[in-house]
This record gives sequence, structure tokens and C-alpha cells, in this order.
Amino acid sequence: MTSDELRALMSQMTLEEKVGQLVQLDGGCFGGGDLATGPAAKIGVTQDDIDRAGSVLNVLGADQVREMQDRYLSRSRLRVPLLFMADVIYGYQTCYPSPIGIGCTWDPDAIRAGYTLVAEEAAADGCMVTFSPAVDLVRDARWGRVVEMPGGEDPYLGARFAAAMVEGFQDGLGEGRGVASCVKHFAGYGAVEGGREYNTVDMSERRFRQDYLPPYKAAVDAGARMVMTSFNTVDEVPATANKWLMDDVLRGEWGFEGSIITDYAAILELINHGVAADERQAAKLAIDATVDIDMKTNCYAANLADLVRAGEVSEAAVDAACWRVLTLKNELGLFENPYYQADALRAAEITCNEERLASVRAVADNALVLLKNDGVLPLDSGEDAPRIALIGPYADSKDIVGMWAIHANRAYSHTVREAFSEELGEDGFGCAKGCPVLDEAGMATLGEFAAYLAKGAPVDPRTPEELEAEALAMAAEADVVVLCLGEHQLQSGEAGARTDLTLPHQQVELLRRVHELGKRTVVVLFNGRPLVLEDVLPLADAVVEAWWPGTAGGNAIADVLFGRVNPSGRLTMTFPVSSAQAPLYYGQFATGRLAGKNHTGRFVTGYLDAPIDGRFPFGYGLSYHTAELTDFALSGDVVTADAPIEASVTLTNTGDVAGSEVVQLYLRDLVGSVVRPVKELKGFCKVALEAGESRRVSFTIDEELLRFWRRDMTFGSEPGDFVAMVGLNSRDVLELPFSLR
Ligand code: BGC
Repeated sequence: MTSDELRALMSQMTLEEKVGQLVQLDGGCFGGGDLATGPAAKIGVTQDDIDRAGSVLNVLGADQVREMQDRYLSRSRLRVPLLFMADVIYGYQTCYPSPIGIGCTWDPDAIRAGYTLVAEEAAADGCMVTFSPAVDLVRDARWGRVVEMPGGEDPYLGARFAAAMVEGFQDGLGEGRGVASCVKHFAGYGAVEGGREYNTVDMSERRFRQDYLPPYKAAVDAGARMVMTSFNTVDEVPATANKWLMDDVLRGEWGFEGSIITDYAAILELINHGVAADERQAAKLAIDATVDIDMKTNCYAANLADLVRAGEVSEAAVDAACWRVLTLKNELGLFENPYYQADALRAAEITCNEERLASVRAVADNALVLLKNDGVLPLDSGEDAPRIALIGPYADSKDIVGMWAIHANRAYSHTVREAFSEELGEDGFGCAKGCPVLDEAGMATLGEFAAYLAKGAPVDPRTPEELEAEALAMAAEADVVVLCLGEHQLQSGEAGARTDLTLPHQQVELLRRVHELGKRTVVVLFNGRPLVLEDVLPLADAVVEAWWPGTAGGNAIADVLFGRVNPSGRLTMTFPVSSAQAPLYYGQFATGRLAGKNHTGRFVTGYLDAPIDGRFPFGYGLSYHTAELTDFALSGDVVTADAPIEASVTLTNTGDVAGSEVVQLYLRDLVGSVVRPVKELKGFCKVALEAGESRRVSFTIDEELLRFWRRDMTFGSEPGDFVAMVGLNSRDVLELPFSLR
């Protein structure tokens, strides 16, 4: 409908109906079940609240969506359709690797294209808005949600992926394609103190703006229709009640015109935070902060209309919020077609189809990061194939699709064992579990959710001793042992914070026993965060970081292990030497005492018992080829406001197989009005080269690239001296000086 027609519709709405548009309930509330005992009772909503609610959380399935919409509309006075929102995070039924893996592709273009396919698959099953991407900057690997973040520790990389993901999801939005993207969790959630889930975030405004905000801003600039608040505080005000953050920065400075939704029950949590005495006050704080939609609580439904009548909240605030929700519904064409693209036949046609399976496999191939290789990889699968034992709790597990792939169609995902069978034949290798992912004490740390998730899964009746004996007997017969090890899925993700970032101890023990047999060992890791691998590295001839590689994970691992694919993934987070190094990241600030510069070995920035940097740096990864950068040159040594310079370097594949490298550009501002990072990523380029091929790669360095939040909190550049660096990781770089005039 036209904007005027939409206005006319809104003018017919009662205050309660307008408030209703700001309420999001869980699917169970609409099931027509018993109000006194069902999900509605849990949050205290009435039938009227349900009949007026504007959106629904996590209900998908084309027929179910259509049926729920019909039932809802039949009870709705003005027939304003429900908006169906869901967590479609890194795929719908066909899944890409978890976002930490996606980031390691350093290929936002591939992800943009891939997320268009995700949107199409999810929309055909009824999704209209996805709560994705999550783009919280993360520098503390203790935090569980690092697994969800494509940009890892870097704001520039995070911004590139944020934009690509939003563009992918929303491709064709308004023209009957795509799903609306809700970027989250605004803002700063990745900086929770101590990596502790839901904890306080407190930092300088400069740092917040400089490092943490850019990925969200990039998502908003790319057109994200919605933003979700984060659970944490920002400057001691919870994000969900933070008017400065939502109204001044997001809406005012960035011009965001879409809807803001809370994270799960976050308005109610304002009471726990101690900034609201009760639900009424919590509702007032949130609407005053221009938060439009209350996810999963009764706070808005029960209080907003009263607050307006009492003169404590203006009706204009409710109108503005309601208008934003209606505008999105109208943009999606819901007033003409309330089902959007929900279509069971179409869903059946495209779900997990060949195009999608090929796309997720290509991305998974490129997401794997080879951390170590003494030459054991790639494995031969032909005539001279070694005898292989495939061992470990993830050797034959579909859990490698990852925890947030809640809608993954596991029928299409292959385990590593299944992929090896395609390669070597069913009897061409041995396979054994070796040990469980966690022992009993480890499982106990995960709480009841672990048992809930495992419900229905077959239970292995064998004792740990029996499992180990079987695996070791198999390993003894093999030339090469491939060990599939990792964290439990619930050891990362929401509420998956850890203090000990090592692999579960009985898995390391299994590896040790295999190593003692004198076998060549390849470790494939499944996990959601950088791990401390100090125990693992000396025992393994090769280590492949697979993250949670998604639907095609098993095949992608076979692709890389058997050399069909030359690994090209590069880390987006520094791998630590010790868990106690967190937070750890390459872009540290210059300090007054430089690392390792004092002859006494003391009184320098760092630790007595650990190095200042990690085991594997940001940007790092190996391939089956080798490569080098030479002839680094700048086209001039002065940048001015209207005259950029070019930085160029020759990349050569010095190996004997074709492969890809990520050439990375870093800059350092040598003297600033505030202390500047020692290195900042400012450009990258993924280049495919034949064996022996050389290619000149160049980057433009302009004045804009040199801007930062200056001492007076204005954003701009400062004339002076800089260093440009290029490298194939953030540690080993070539440097050249230039200045800005
Ligand atoms: C998470 C969000 C998610 C929401 C809805 C919350 O617990 O923090 O990332 O989108 O639930 O499921």
C-alpha cells in the first residue's frame, strides 16, 4: 500500500493495537493452547495481547507459517499481519560454517552470494526477518559467542563481512526476494569483562567508536532493516535502556530509520540490572531509548498504554515505533500477501538443492585453516594411499554442523567418516570414536541443556577404556591417524564462556597414546573459539582448524586432507599460548615500555611466563604451496586530502601447486594526539595463483583511511608520519614509511 494508505490504517488503530505491534511473542503463544498453563502464561500475556501482537519468534515451516498467519488474521480487527522473525544465522537447512569459520575465508563476496541463497531458502519456509548477522568485535576467546562473529578481533574485517551479510540476506528485498536483516547485538557485547557471558562492558567512548561500532555501522549503511540491542551495559547503562546509544548514535548520527528490537527478554532484565524497579519502569526506559519491539516479555504489552495514558510516555513515541514496524511489513508486501514467500512446494524444490550444497561446500573448503603441516598432508588417496585410522569423538558425528544451525537438515550433512568412505571406500580405512567429547565432570559443567540437546541420540554403552582400546588397536594397524577432536558444541555459543581454552583432557590423552604408537597424526579440530594448543602441537604432524564447518563439513575436510582443495583459510583471531593471555589481539596500542626491549627481561610490557603475542597470529594460515611477497613499493611518500598513493607488492606462489593467499595491508600512525594501535588492518585481497605464478597486488591509501577518533573526539586524520605494511599474516610484514600532509 502507499505510505498514505498505511498512515490511514495506523490512524484507525487504538493505542492498544499500536502497542501490540511492538510486542513479539513466541510461537507457542499462538497455538491456541491453554492460556493458563501454556507459554503465554509463563510471560503473563492475555488472549488480547496475543491477538494484537505484531511479530512472532522462531516459527518456521511454510505451512505452519501460513496456518498461523491465517488463524491470527481471522481474529484481527484491522488485519495487520504478523511478522515472522527467526534465527537464521549461518544457513537455514543448508548451512555454511559457523561465522568464525566464514570469517576465515576472508571472502566477503562469496558470503554475500551465499547469504542470498540462505535468504531464499529461509523465506520459502516462512522467514521474513532474520536475527543475523551478529557482528560483535571479539578479542577475548573466553567469551563463548566468538563462534558467531565473522570479523573476529578486527573492526575492518568485521565491517566488511557485516555489510556483505546484510547485502546477501536483503538482496531483492522490497521486490519480493530476500529476508530483512536484523544486525546484533548492539553494542559492544563482545567486550564483556573477563569474557563472562552477559557481563558488564565498560570502555572509553573513543575505543567504543573506534573499534567496536564500525561493524554495526557498516551493517546499517548496507541497509539492515533492524537492529537488536545487546544484553550488556554500555557506560553503566544497559544497551536496551541506553538512549544515547540507540537514539543519539544509531538513529541520530547514523540515520537509522528501521526498527530496534530487544534481545531475548532484555527489557525485563533491566530490573535485574537494577536500573528499573519494576516492569513498568523497564518499559518506560526502553521506549524512551526508542527501542521499538519487546522480544518475549510482557513489559510493553502490560504497561505501555498505561504509561501513555498517565502522561509518562508520549503517544508520539508509540506512534513512531509502530510506524517503523508497519513500514517494514509494508515493504515486505505483507498487506497484499501476508505469507510473504512461504511456499511449501518452492521450499521443497530449493531446500538443500545442488546449488546450495555446492555453495556451502566451497565456503567450507575455504574456511578451513591449516595451522601446522610437517608434510604429512595432503594424504594420498590413490594407489599409494596410506592405511588410515579415523579416530575421535567427531570422526562420525553430525554435530559438526554446529550448535546455532538450529534448522539444519542433517539428512544432507555428511560426517567425516561418510566423506572418507566416498574417498576410500567403506572398508578403505578404520573408524573409531576413541573417547567421548567430554567426560562426566565436563558434561556436568554444561547443565541440563546438554542433556536436552542429546535427547533421542543413541547412547554409547561402552566404557571409556573400551572406547580407547578399540581406537588404539585400530591406530596400531594404520600408517596415518586422523584424529577428529574438539570442544563440546555447548562449550561455545551463548552462555558458553570458558576460562580454560584447552581441548578436553581425555582427548589430548587419546592423542598422546596415538603419538606414542609412533604414528603420523593429523588433528582436525572442531571448536568455536581460538584454543590453546600447546599440548596438541608437539603431538601432531598436522593440525587443521575446521571450526563447525556446516552441512558440507565432512566433505570439505576430505577435500583438504586428500589435497583436492589447497587450504586457504586465514585466522581472524589470534590463537593464544595461554588462556590467561585473554584478551589478545594484534592491533594493540603502543605502550611506554616496549615488549622485549629491556636487557633485564623485566620492566617491559608483557608477562614473565608467557610471550606477549599468541601462538598463531591474526591473518595466519598455511597452504600446500608456499608464497612470498617482494618488491613492496609506494607510488609516492606523501598522501594529501586529494592525492592518495598506491601501495603495491608482488605476490609469488613459490610452491608447486596452485593456491590462494590473502594479502593484507596494515597501517600505523606513528604520532597522534592519542595513542594509536601498532597495526591496523586497512585492506586485504584474496588472490588465486598457479604454481610459480606472480601477481602485483595493490591498495589505495587515501586520507580517509587514516582517520580516527582524535583527542577532541572528532573523527578525522592528523598530518604526520605513518608506516604501511603488507603481509600474508599480521606478524610477518614488509614496511615502508609515508606521511600525510
Ligand atoms: C540471543 C540472540 C538471539 C535471540 C533470539 C538470544 O538469546 O542472544 O542472538 O537472536 O536469543 O533467539
